[in-house]
Amino acid sequence: MDSAPDYARQKAADFIAQLNELLTIPSISTLAEHAPDVERAARWLVDDMRRIGLRAEIHRADGYLPLVYGEWLGAGADAPTVLVYGHYDVQPADIADGWGTPPFQPTQRDGRIYARGALDSKGHVIAHLKAVESLLATGDALCNIKLLFEGEEESGSAHIYQFVRDNRQRLQADVIVVSDGSMPDEKQPVLVYGLRGIIQFEMTVTGPARDLHSGHYGGNVHNPLQALTEIMAALHDERGRVTVPGFYDAVRPITAQERDVLDGMREWSEREWHAVTGAPATWGEPDYALHERSGARPTLEINGMAGGFFEKGFKTVIPHKAWAKFSCRLVPDQQPATIAGQVIDYIHALTPPTVRVEVTSDWRDAAPGVVLDYESPSMQACIRAYEQGWGVRPILTREGGSVPVVAVFAEVLDGDVVLMPFGYKGGGAHSTNEYIVIEMFHKGIQTALAFYDQFAALHSGAD
Ligand code: BES
Ligand code: ZN
Repeated sequence: MDSAPDYARQKAADFIAQLNELLTIPSISTLAEHAPDVERAARWLVDDMRRIGLRAEIHRADGYLPLVYGEWLGAGADAPTVLVYGHYDVQPADIADGWGTPPFQPTQRDGRIYARGALDSKGHVIAHLKAVESLLATGDALCNIKLLFEGEEESGSAHIYQFVRDNRQRLQADVIVVSDGSMPDEKQPVLVYGLRGIIQFEMTVTGPARDLHSGHYGGNVHNPLQALTEIMAALHDERGRVTVPGFYDAVRPITAQERDVLDGMREWSEREWHAVTGAPATWGEPDYALHERSGARPTLEINGMAGGFFEKGFKTVIPHKAWAKFSCRLVPDQQPATIAGQVIDYIHALTPPTVRVEVTSDWRDAAPGVVLDYESPSMQACIRAYEQGWGVRPILTREGGSVPVVAVFAEVLDGDVVLMPFGYKGGGAHSTNEYIVIEMFHKGIQTALAFYDQFAALHSGAD
């Protein structure tokens, strides 16, 4: 019988076809009208799990999008258990945003598949699922396997926290593999041992009861759009630091030793910055390298602002209302609740008596940052798995994005958490023309297979 790696190589074309099927489903969790599509994607996954031999079910709770859970415990009570987490929901995408091809018609060119979710994160989900298929089809599975795929990661993960707490026993595993994140180069894998947390805010500024003629009242009514930009501009100083009092109080400093560890990323992240961003010059805290700014330092980002007249032509008004959405990326040991209070208080303190401000934060979306132990045996198994899958030793790094449930896994479950990304950072996650590099998808499957081997060996060695 074939080995699991051989099986995966023989099935390469089928695996890509299956990824394409899932990519055609617009499982956008941030838009309520797409809830049936999220459901359809969940069904696709549960059907495939059952087909390959897992016991699987969809978990639904009122008002939330489905979670898909499957398990195979055939390795026996003495064998180690691996829990894999991924998310199959996606961010919105519209061809009018500037996509070269329709975002939900996966298109193959130049060794890539272009589609919303190809990188973030259906490519990751399918790579893991197909690694499991390869193990079960060949009888090579030496670990028990649990798969948990979320349908609302992009919309705040509100439901999974409780699911993990309520199902602590069922989800118990020796290691939790979170398949997310990205590499600075197609050929250079990373071992991600930290993620930033996140907290999101919405804000409105109002002034006059309705729009006013700017000739009649310009000069004696404070324009809400202007007031909004004044407040937002006051949230950073000229060195790129957030000015909110207390914001940095709890930030865990980067030690000299960690700086050395992270230094392996310096050149990769500088090269990647220039290749990916297209921005004219770097920005941010001058005392920190680019990879430190995005991995180990907190931020406050304006995600959108709106207000006033923006149609064709001109309308000389003082608008009555202005809006902003912004978010903070958090690092250990900042507490989301504390930061929310500090930000909201400071915005009120900055608000002049000439306008009214409302600023809110949705608690269900907040998540703290995490730093994991990169010396744990599970992480070391992960390093060896990348060496087999990519042929290159991964560099240690902390990533700037957020996977909200990771902090809950680390708190509630006993196993080590490891992160295992297979995608390239320039692949357009949350943007236009998102893609997965097909070769990286296949290397991802081989890396996942190598990880099961390494993890089982670790366990038998420990006995
Ligand atoms: N795949 C990302 C998380 C990520 C991005 C990890 C970059 C490492 C590096 C995930 O799908 C995501 O986008 N998460 C959101 C969470 C938010 C909507 C609560 C994020 O980070 O903005
Ligand atoms: Zn995402």
